[in-house]
Amino acid sequence: MSPTNYPEKPLRKAIFPVAGFGTRFLPATKSVPKEMLTVVDRPVIHYAVQEAIDAGCDTLIFITGRSKRAIEDYFDRSPELEAELEAKGKTEALDIVRNILPSHVRCFYVRQPQALGLGHAVLCAADMISSDESFAVVLPDDLIDSRPCGVLSQMQAVHERTGQAVIAVEQVAQQDVSKYGILKTDGWMGGALPIRGIVEKPRSEDAPSNWGVIGRYILPARVMELLKDQVPGAGGEIQLTDAIARCLPHHEFVGLPISGKRFDCGSMNGFLEANMHFGMQRVAQGAAL
Ligand code: UTP
Repeated sequence: MSPTNYPEKPLRKAIFPVAGFGTRFLPATKSVPKEMLTVVDRPVIHYAVQEAIDAGCDTLIFITGRSKRAIEDYFDRSPELEAELEAKGKTEALDIVRNILPSHVRCFYVRQPQALGLGHAVLCAADMISSDESFAVVLPDDLIDSRPCGVLSQMQAVHERTGQAVIAVEQVAQQDVSKYGILKTDGWMGGALPIRGIVEKPRSEDAPSNWGVIGRYILPARVMELLKDQVPGAGGEIQLTDAIARCLPHHEFVGLPISGKRFDCGSMNGFLEANMHFGMQRVAQGAAL
């Protein structure tokens, strides 16, 4: 039986797994969520949220853990601050704090009681995804400067046109394949790579290619079902990649190579590079830093 695609509903829901500990940024992340560390003037999570909204998502589901309250506060209204800015006539600042999210967008927060892995984090949102809709997963660590539109918008266009599930991919150095989910593919189809297999963090000698999965996914609801009985995989964690691998016989998946520059803001180097890159862009635009 060839894989079939589900009836289509427009993509509306984006899941942001943000329950990890961010140990690579200690001591800062002892009290500040790593997603709240700023690239130039806004937290890393803001870029990811904007990308999802630009792709048409209006329902944002954050999978949080202990000490992530700052994320909720950031996307909430702040009446005291707004009143203060209004009273002082600081209209520009008032506009900024009022317009962090457009009014049609709603945020939901679901706690992941234990950090059991990315697949488990996504599963925490299962009750919010109906059986006939696809959903996006966005990992804020991957900050991508992409023109003319965001990576999730590019993926959404493919998904809308074909009904396929879409995963963002990038070619990674052979010595780095063991850090990524890696695709098995047999060539190009319409600018994308049909996915024939996918494996999490393979050893270099076992990797089926060097196409690495980047933190953007548009997935069918069936992946949620499969996550419910997904056993732990690489690193003893419940892996999203493993549930996707089990979904491949039922649904067409393609890898879409990202166009743009990616910064791994989960690492110190990537985070610093992102600050330099976006900071220089702001300077070039003539903005005061
Ligand atoms: P990472 O593997 O980068 O883990 O998770 P981390 O804890 O955030 O960072 P380090 O390695 O300790 O510095 C990748 C993404 O998956 C989320 C993380 O929040 C991050 O966005 N995640 C991971 C969860 O939400 N829950 C989990 O159980 C695991």
